[in-house]
Amino acid sequence: MSQSEPFHAPSALNVIRDEHRAMAAVLDGLAYVVRNIDAGRMRPDYTLLASMVDYIAEMPDKLHHPKEDRIFALLRPKTHDLDGYLDSLEEEHRRAVPATSALDRALVHYLQAGADGFGAFRDTALSYTSNEFKHMGMEERYIFPAARRLLTADEWQEVNADFSRNSDPWAGLDDRFVKLFRQIAMLAPAPIGLGDPQT
Ligand SMILES: [Fe+2]
Ligand SMILES: [Fe+2]
Repeated sequence: MSQSEPFHAPSALNVIRDEHRAMAAVLDGLAYVVRNIDAGRMRPDYTLLASMVDYIAEMPDKLHHPKEDRIFALLRPKTHDLDGYLDSLEEEHRRAVPATSALDRALVHYLQAGADGFGAFRDTALSYTSNEFKHMGMEERYIFPAARRLLTADEWQEVNADFSRNSDPWAGLDDRFVKLFRQIAMLAPAPIGLGDPQT
């Protein structure tokens, strides 16, 4: 049996894509709220902001990145073409927890300082979201297509088993993020979300 036949299409990659979509919805929602507060179009909803930051700390850092690291490690010995990308992505995974903590601290400071703390939180949040989008884009453009080609069926079996333990990225463990996604859907103007169109 060939080790890279298409019918071994790895379900782990579908899980990752779904996790990226859910993370993108939260990151987009965060950037949207921050920009609207900045423009004076929205009053801060600290509970919503805390829930978004909580999601970012829970899902990507604890569940998503460790599984991707396994795929990166399996790819390393198969090609050197991706070394530069893998170096960057692994370094970004290592820095993810401190980056999330910095975002969390900036939010706490904003909560405590009120409007005076907004500028620092805005800058931290927008740089965080922009870095995350670049990171996910690099993975989707360069890494996962190569992984699909180069990993063996046995390796996919191992990775898939690992990914099957992930919780639903749109709900989280114990459905704790279901409300967050409902709120996010209401934020964005139609047709993206369900909220009222804005001019
Ligand atoms: Fe990643
Ligand atoms: Fe990722």
